[in-house]
Order: sequence, then structure tokens, then C-alpha cells
Amino acid sequence: MGKLTVLSGIRPTGYLHLGNYFGAVRSFVKMQNDYNCFFFIADIHSLTTHPTPEDLQSGVKQVLAEYLACGIDPEAATIFIQSDVPEVAELYTFLNMNAYLGELERTTSFKEKARKQPENVNAGLLTYPVLMAADIIIHKANFVPVGKDQEQNLEMARKFAKRFNRMYKKEVFPIPRPFTFDGGDMIKVPGLDGSGKMGKSEGNAINLYDTPKEIRKKVMRAVTDSGPTEMDQEKPEAIQNLFTLLKIVSTHDTVEHFDTLYNKCEIRYGDLKKQLAEDIIAYTSPIRGKIIDILEDEAYLAKVAKMGAEKARESASETLKEVKAVIGLKRLF
Ligand code: TYM
Repeated sequence: MGKLTVLSGIRPTGYLHLGNYFGAVRSFVKMQNDYNCFFFIADIHSLTTHPTPEDLQSGVKQVLAEYLACGIDPEAATIFIQSDVPEVAELYTFLNMNAYLGELERTTSFKEKARKQPENVNAGLLTYPVLMAADIIIHKANFVPVGKDQEQNLEMARKFAKRFNRMYKKEVFPIPRPFTFDGGDMIKVPGLDGSGKMGKSEGNAINLYDTPKEIRKKVMRAVTDSGPTEMDQEKPEAIQNLFTLLKIVSTHDTVEHFDTLYNKCEIRYGDLKKQLAEDIIAYTSPIRGKIIDILEDEAYLAKVAKMGAEKARESASETLKEVKAVIGLKRLF
């Protein structure tokens, strides 16, 4: 039997941050040799935020270089740019006919965006999960490695795939599943501002491309409190977030060391932050070096994008042909 298919993507809205890396890209690298992998740059999705053409292009180039610097091998996996595969926009149109206003309006991410940016509640935002479903099912993906924040979008993709199969009484699409290593929970990397997740638009992100100086500055500014007052007390969210980050980048012993100090009310947050910053830097520095080198090699980037576009189009056009036949969009004359 052939390999199962994996697909995932990232919007090119700036630099990749630790959330993108630990929630998604690290899994891409781990999976690339065992599955038939498609990793793409979701430039069409990013249009909902109305980037300038210059920002869009530099964002695409940056994410491409960052994918490669993180260790995605363009020979093992198919790396491509979403807009290089126009078939996905066609499938998106078809899927939109069976996506309902009510279910789209109820999506948490839509409601959140509509609340945060009432001046730009466009139809692309509303149908964002439909385009995402098209991305996934056009390659008949079985698995989608994404962070916890994408859980609901993925649930919608499953729903649209099932609905299509049911409507046309044919198992055209496998039902895609989230992928987590060891069957564990989907990852959520917290931010440094004491709340929620790390995210570009939240302005609380540490990027792979940040210099050591920037990383130290960001970590030292992270929100804390005045310290524990009782032995073994529960950690408030801001402090828990620092420990979660520490768990991701530091050794078990380091985490335990600071945990013990916290429980004894002897912790000095400054020391914890210094350690956290250095451990993040140890993780990101080699990647940053590679990003810088790869960004300079335009010819290589162009070659990777072209190779990926060809492979992705081949897979997408095959599915689209089947979809059109199933729907009845065949030439009759
Ligand atoms: P995007 O660009 O917002 O994020 C890219 C990936 O990074 C993960 N991520 C996180 N994981 C854990 N903790 C965080 N703080 C964190 N922040 C971001 C996201 O879960 C995601 O895996 N809609 C997608 C892009 C997309 C896509 C797709 C993904 C379009 N089509 C098809 C998979 C399959 C998005 O906006 O991700």
C-alpha cells in the first residue's frame, strides 16, 4: 500500500514564530519521510487581511525560506505556494455551494475576527474554512498537522468532505484527521503577555528570525506577577505560560528546578526569564542562520517553488477532474 497523505499550510503574514514552529513545522519535518507530504504557503488565505503586493511577496519568500531552514526537504515533501495551484480556487467554488451561512457564521475564528476588525468582515473571512477544506481535500489528505487553534477549521473540513461524499454517494474524499505525535493533544504555544496563545496579530510572538538581543528583550518583558505567597500554590496563567514555554525549549531538569523554587516561594522570575531566553536562542539561532543564507539564494527558492507547484498541480488536477465528473460538470457537446 502507498503512503498516507499529509497536508498543512501557513499564512505568509510575517515571520514564523515559536507557535508556528512547535504547533506545526516541527511535525512537518518529523513526518516528511514517512508520508506523502504537501506543505504550502497559504497566500490566498492571507488576502483577507489586504496586504500590499510587496508585503505579500516578501511574506511568501520568507515562509518558503523558513520552511527550508527548519529542515523541510523539498525532495522528500512537496512544498508549494497556494496560488500556484489554481485548481484549489475551483474546488473552493464548488464547496461553497454546500457550505451554509449559519455554520460559517458560528465558527469561533470568524466571530473573533468580526469582533476584532468590524471594518473588514469580508466574505473571504466567512468562507475561510471552505478554502481551507479545499486545500486539504484536493490532495485527498488523510492527516493534517496543525496547532490547537486550527481544530475547529479542521472539523469544518471534515464536515465538508463528508457532506460532498454523501451528496454524490461516492467516497471521493478521505475524511482528514488532525495529526499529533503519540496521539497526544494538539499543541497550543502560549504568548508572553500573560494571556492566550502566541500569535502574530496578538503582538506577543517570538520569531525564529529574531536576533538573540530581540529574544532576550521580549522574554525579559514577559508579564509576571509579584510572586507566589503560599507553598505549592497553583500558578496563574501568565506564570503557567512561562513554564509551558520552558517545557517546550528547556531540559526536564531545568523545568523541575524552577518548579521547585516556585513551590517553595523562592523563585526569582528574572532568573527564569534569563534561562528561558537562552534556551530559546539555543533553539532558534541555528535556524536563523540558515534562513539568512537561504533568503540570499533566490535561484534555489525559485527552483523549489517551481518543483512544488508542478507536483501539487498534478495531484490537484487529478482530484478536480474526478470531482467535476462526479458533480456532472462534463462537457456534453
Ligand atoms: P496560521 O498561518 O495561523 O498558523 C500556521 C500554523 O501554526 C499553528 N500555530 C500554533 N500552534 C500552536 N500554538 C500557537 N500559538 C500557534 N500559532 C499558530 C497553527 O495551528 C497552524 O498549524 N488556516 C491556517 C492555514 C491553512 C491551513 C490550510 C492549515 C490554510 N489552509 C490547510 C492546514 C491545512 C492558518 O491560518 O494557520
